[in-house]
Amino acid sequence: MIRLAAIADIHARRGTEGVLRGLVEAVARDADLLLIAGDLTDSGLVEEARLLASVLDASPLPVVAVLGNHDFHHQQQLAIQETLAAHGVVLLDGDGWVFERGGVRLGIAGCVGFGGGFRPYSLESFGEPEWKLLYDKVVEESRKLDRGLAAVSDCDYLVAMTHYSPTVDTMGDEPPPLYPFLGSSELGQALERHGVLFAVHGHAHRGRRDGCTDQGIPVFNVALPVVQRPLIWRFDPRRPEAVAQPVAVAPGGPVT
Ligand SMILES: [Fe+2]
Ligand SMILES: [Fe+2]
Repeated sequence: MIRLAAIADIHARRGTEGVLRGLVEAVARDADLLLIAGDLTDSGLVEEARLLASVLDASPLPVVAVLGNHDFHHQQQLAIQETLAAHGVVLLDGDGWVFERGGVRLGIAGCVGFGGGFRPYSLESFGEPEWKLLYDKVVEESRKLDRGLAAVSDCDYLVAMTHYSPTVDTMGDEPPPLYPFLGSSELGQALERHGVLFAVHGHAHRGRRDGCTDQGIPVFNVALPVVQRPLIWRFDPRRPEAVAQPVAVAPGGPVT
């Protein structure tokens, strides 16, 4: 059995060490690997990445992550990536990564994603060149997800991770005028093209946890303000039909 934990929007900064240590310790007890779906740092400063790395050093678990918009804010994203990679964090940006245990292969694909909004009110390639440039970025992120998912398509299970949302379904209490800044239906279409088991994202701090794409791929908003604690899934080959729903929050907590 593989136990997968996921969280997002941990916004590491001075003063958050205690909260982060608590998260990491809980996950280390209850899971085999941890996904962090972006906004790893609060202001996009490399010293915040160093703080996070030092906390993660205490965890024996593999950590797989994507960056979020906050991680780009001071244009230190490359240094942030290098800092975390030096501490063993796997950062996905259009890549796939495989975790294997007991003959079960779990493929993870991820990228940051981008805004653009959700159908039928999403950005289109129309009008001034500047709108078309923005739309190109929307499509580029969707293609990255395609590439990552294709790279792990031979796995028993496919899970996708983005910072931005692939569906309007998890927007919850976010104000509708913000939707174009919070995600894109194009990401959801990539999930559908590859038939992923489920996807996780963050960024929508006021969103709701559970949703799905237009074609019914389960999507979970694991932003820390939404879920409070990491969600955990169990990949049990004896119960494949049960895998798409999280079985617990760490530590302890009700089964949902
Ligand atoms: Fe965030
Ligand atoms: Fe964000």
